[in-house]
Amino acid sequence: MELLNAIYERRSIRKYAKVQIPLDHIEKMVRSAQMAPSWKNSQTARFYVAHTEKAIEEMRDCLASFNKERTENVGAFIVTTVKKGISGYVNGEPTHLGNGFECFDNGLSVQNLLLTATELGYGTLIMGLYKPEKIKTLFQIPDSEDVVVVIALGKADISPDAPQRNSLDQILTIK
Ligand SMILES: Cc1cc2nc3c(=O)[nH]c(=O)nc-3n(C[C@H](O)[C@H](O)[C@H](O)COP(=O)(O)O)c2cc1C
Repeated sequence: MELLNAIYERRSIRKYAKVQIPLDHIEKMVRSAQMAPSWKNSQTARFYVAHTEKAIEEMRDCLASFNKERTENVGAFIVTTVKKGISGYVNGEPTHLGNGFECFDNGLSVQNLLLTATELGYGTLIMGLYKPEKIKTLFQIPDSEDVVVVIALGKADISPDAPQRNSLDQILTIK
């Protein structure tokens, strides 16, 4: 699939049909996430995957109730975290964005992951509302990391239109 096709065809999927996801597909997605640029190549993103039925159900219990409903039948969840206090810091001091570059780097890697999932024929949903402490306990995530997003991964059982985007003149300034 051409890159631009994947960019334009990716949708947030909120209804899934049951499917097993081979682990090598998940590894391929995480490998592509690793290729994203990061602050001084600090690579502070980490990935935790719920793949067994039990782990998937445990993860669904960590989600906001509306997200739990939307993720019935998913084949996996991928939790991304950031190792704190590294990306966006110079001699231990943050830039004007505070710790913003941590999540910036994480987002770059997540988009690579989503586009690879699209190319492999999967639907995805990024979720920002979840119970972080419960997820940290489930995967034994150390306090040096913050949970950023949870990504549902599976076979789409719906084919939504792209939500409206702003017009270019609303977002683009050229001098
Ligand atoms: C950081 C972030 C958090 C999000 N959280 C949720 C969420 O909790 N539940 C949900 O259904 N969608 C969530 N979304 C998906 C957005 O609503 C979606 O990307 C947006 O409406 C554009 O639609 P599209 O992804 O199909 O292009 C989230 C997206 C991002 C980037």
